[in-house]
Amino acid sequence: MSSQDNSKDNSEENLPQQPEGADSGALSKRDDPFANPGLPPHEHRVQDIDEQAAKRSERAVAGLFTLSMLSTIGFIVSYVSFDIDKIVYIFPIGRVSALNFSLGMTLGLALFCIGAGAIHWARTLMTDVEVAEERHDLDASPEVREEVLAGFQEGARESDIGRRKLVRNTLIGAVAMVPLTGLVLLRDLGPLPGTKLRHTKWAKGKMLINENTLEPLRPEDISVGSLTFAMPEGLSEEDHDFHNEIAKAALMIVRLQPENIKDKRELDWSHEGIVAFSKICTHVGCPISLYEQQTHHVLCPCHQSTFDLTDGGRVIFGPAGHSLPQLRITVNDKGYLEAMGDFAEPVGPAYWERG
Ligand code: FES
Repeated sequence: MSSQDNSKDNSEENLPQQPEGADSGALSKRDDPFANPGLPPHEHRVQDIDEQAAKRSERAVAGLFTLSMLSTIGFIVSYVSFDIDKIVYIFPIGRVSALNFSLGMTLGLALFCIGAGAIHWARTLMTDVEVAEERHDLDASPEVREEVLAGFQEGARESDIGRRKLVRNTLIGAVAMVPLTGLVLLRDLGPLPGTKLRHTKWAKGKMLINENTLEPLRPEDISVGSLTFAMPEGLSEEDHDFHNEIAKAALMIVRLQPENIKDKRELDWSHEGIVAFSKICTHVGCPISLYEQQTHHVLCPCHQSTFDLTDGGRVIFGPAGHSLPQLRITVNDKGYLEAMGDFAEPVGPAYWERG
């Protein structure tokens, strides 16, 4: 009996009425709404009866696997040919990195083609005999395991992987090549950073640029009680490494009364009471942004580390492990504030143990 017949028989209108008082436990199979409908009659696919159609499917599957291989090659070519800064306009996405776009598209296509090829192969070429299996205990006996192994071998035989050499070879090629994309990306682990993390964009003669106005700062721009943020001359938001560099070079500037400065080195490195410290907290690198005018303490909003700007940026509260690095500054011939070199020690928490 087909499933259609069953569903029809099981519909409420077709159920025969039980005589009143009849034993409800003695339902016939015809009246059981949960009766096993069985399998519908098997319908052969066109590929099962037409070898030409099977060949066409085989070529389609092989084509998908071949396209996957070409996409993998495209991924590698994109990786080595596109400049990391190249931006292109792609409709309808807009302006995107050419490198990221091409890597994503080629890797996505390579994986998609393997999946689509495998599905098409399973649906059109592998055997489609339907098998009903009884439920059994989860703990498989040795006989069952042998049965499973035999079933697996049978499946491998029925998948035609031995006979359809074109499909098999292109599948092996596609699956073998996709991991190359990961291998190529290992190149991004290098080169070693060297001393790059120890240095910032600050250097002797670099003017202090107001982060808001982008104008060079003069001593008269820094008033008592204000907190001014600055970045090094020559750093532009257009630079591709701007965020990396500003994360290290961000500076905060305050004006103190020289007689209030307790640390002698801090006084030497200041200009008429104007002191410049790294804005990056030495705990885990949050930007410091709260300034107490009366005490000249600065507070990190992340975990409340507090630094004393009159005492060499010393930590007076909180989890930070190091004083804030100070930038030595002076005034150039044109009257602008400028750095006298880079920070003397690494900024932020980059070097937890500085030795
Ligand atoms: S990052 Fe500043 S206190 Fe934690």
